[in-house]
Amino acid sequence: MNVLGIESSCDETSCAVVVDGKKILSNVVATQIPFHTIYKGVVPEIASRKHIEWILPVAREALKEASLTPDKIDAVAATNRPGLVGGLLVGLTFAKALALALGKPFLAVNHMLGHLYAPRLLTSDSPADLPDYPFLGLLVSGGHSIICKVENFDSVEVLGTTVDDSAGEAFDKVAKFYNLGYPGGVVIDKLAKSGDPKAAAFPLPNLHNAAPCDMSFSGLKTAVIHQRETFWKKGVDFTNENLAASFQEAAVKILVRAVERALKITGLKVVVAGGGVAANSRLRALMSERLGKSVKCIFPPLKLCGDNAAMIAGVAYQYFAKGDNSPLNTSAFARVSDFKHRATPNR
Ligand code: KG4
Ligand code: ZN
Repeated sequence: MNVLGIESSCDETSCAVVVDGKKILSNVVATQIPFHTIYKGVVPEIASRKHIEWILPVAREALKEASLTPDKIDAVAATNRPGLVGGLLVGLTFAKALALALGKPFLAVNHMLGHLYAPRLLTSDSPADLPDYPFLGLLVSGGHSIICKVENFDSVEVLGTTVDDSAGEAFDKVAKFYNLGYPGGVVIDKLAKSGDPKAAAFPLPNLHNAAPCDMSFSGLKTAVIHQRETFWKKGVDFTNENLAASFQEAAVKILVRAVERALKITGLKVVVAGGGVAANSRLRALMSERLGKSVKCIFPPLKLCGDNAAMIAGVAYQYFAKGDNSPLNTSAFARVSDFKHRATPNR
C-alpha cells in the first residue's frame, strides 16, 4: 500500500511515498533554512508562506521520484500536531484536498510519533535490526525533550520531559547568542569536534521536586550565556570551539543521565532516539559509551532524524492497517497534552 506523507510542522516542506510503512520510494525534503538564517531562528509567517509556495512542487517531485501517478496512491497523510499552526494548516489542507480529489482515505499524524517511527523505515543505512516493542524512546527535537516507554507505534507512556526548555532549544539559543550560525544544533555539533569538552565545567541540574526522568536545560543555557566566566577553566582559551564542546558535553550528559534513570526504572534494554537532536554525534557516542553492551541504542539514519514526511507516511500506514482514518474536519494543534500528562496520545 502506497501512502503519500506530508510534513510541514516547522521549516521543512516534505512529501514522501512509503510502501507498507517500510520501504521509502521517495522522501523529498525542501529546507527553508536559508530563509530563516538571517533571523537566527524560524519565523513562523515566512515558514507558512514557503510551505504554501512549495507544497505542490514538492508533492509532484515525491511522486516523480517514486515513479507513481497520483492514482497509485492509496492514502494521504499529514502531520496535524504539534508544530507551527500556520505551517501545519498548509500540509493538512493540502493532504485533505488531495485525498478528497483522489477518493482515498486521509490520515492525521502526530509528529512526535513520526520521530519515534523513523528507525522502522528501511533505507540503505537503517539500523541492522528493527526495535521490538516495548522500548525506551528518547524524543529530542526543537520543541520537545521526552523520555517515554513506547508500547506500540501509537502507545506511549511519558516517563519524563523537560521542565523548561528543550535540548534543541538550548542548542539553538546558545548558538544564536554567540552568533555561531543556524541551525544551532548542527553548528555546535560541528564546532565541538575541534573543541575541548573540559574547557568549562558547566553545571548539571538537580531537580529535587521533579520526576526522576525529568530534565532541565534553561539553567545550562543561562550558565553558558550569562555566567560563562564562572565555569570557565583558568588558563584555557575562550574559543567558539571550546564553548561548543563544553556546552554540548553538558547538554548530552543531561539527556543520557535521564535515559539511564529511565532504563533502571523500567528495566527496558532498548533505547530508540528520534528528532533533530538525535543527529548529534556526541549524544550518539556517549549513549553507547555509558549504556554499555547490555543496552541496545538505536538511532535513525541521519537523514531521518530531522523532519521528513517518510516518518509520517510510516505511522499513517500503521493506522490504516488497523482500519483507522481521520475525518476531513481534523484540525491542527500547536501543542499536544499527550506528551505532558504522562498518557497515551489520543488520535
Ligand atoms: O526534529 P527537528 O528537525 O524539528 C522539530 O521537530 O523541532 O529538530 C530540530 C532541532 C533544532 O533545535 C536543531 O538545532 C536540532 O534539532 N539539531 C541538532 C543537531 N541537528 C539538529 N542538535 C544537536 N546536534 C545536531 N547535530
Ligand atoms: Zn521534528
